[in-house]
Amino acid sequence: MKKHIAVAIDGPSGAGKSTVARHAAQELSFIYVDTGALYRSVGWYVCRAGADPGQASQVEPLLAGLDIRFGYVDGEQHVYVNGEDVGDAIRTPEMSMAASAVSALPAVRAFLLDCQRQIAAENSVIMDGRDIGTVVLPDAALKIYLTASVECRAQRRLLELQQKGIRTTYAQVEQDMRQRDYNDTHRAVAPLRRAQDAVLLDTSALDLQQSIDAVKQLIMKVMEE
Ligand code: DC
Repeated sequence: MKKHIAVAIDGPSGAGKSTVARHAAQELSFIYVDTGALYRSVGWYVCRAGADPGQASQVEPLLAGLDIRFGYVDGEQHVYVNGEDVGDAIRTPEMSMAASAVSALPAVRAFLLDCQRQIAAENSVIMDGRDIGTVVLPDAALKIYLTASVECRAQRRLLELQQKGIRTTYAQVEQDMRQRDYNDTHRAVAPLRRAQDAVLLDTSALDLQQSIDAVKQLIMKVMEE
């Protein structure tokens, strides 16, 4: 068996990447790394500083004062921005849009690259994001492109937001989802796309357990090689 194994899971928002990756990581004793949380943390920090997350000239000067770290408490990932646990503050629809905006900035992507590679160098990881298989971990032992129809993804995201007590509508969630899909696939740097060697997994017709099982099977196959 290999010492450290890296599994890259990429795909559009709401495909279930984080839920599936978190469960699979727990069951297989991998560290789960949610890289979207890093972009959300940058977006959160920028908004709190009163800057526009879409403006490189406003965001770049703030990066020097920004320290983002991962921590694990009972196997759950926590993100600390200058020592402060950002918790659910980064999970609001506003922070989704702010994350999408800052993620298009080359300086932000470069800023977060080392942090992501470092954790994969030191642990067996399941890392999810948009460019993990294409940019962050191009040599990952396994790459999965996890997707689902936009309607399915919007419906799942709506439920998630409602469970958190965030009031919104299906139409709004679907519109945001389409906007983020567009942003994520059309940005100039590290756009979302399926790596050539990524396994395509469409979860539109799968429930959560079936999706987790499908991912686990792919990982176990690689671990045996
Ligand atoms: O996965 P998420 O919804 O938490 O991601 C938030 C935003 O961050 C999303 O719009 C795309 C961006 N992102 C990215 O560009 N690259 C990553 N590796 C992860 C997320």
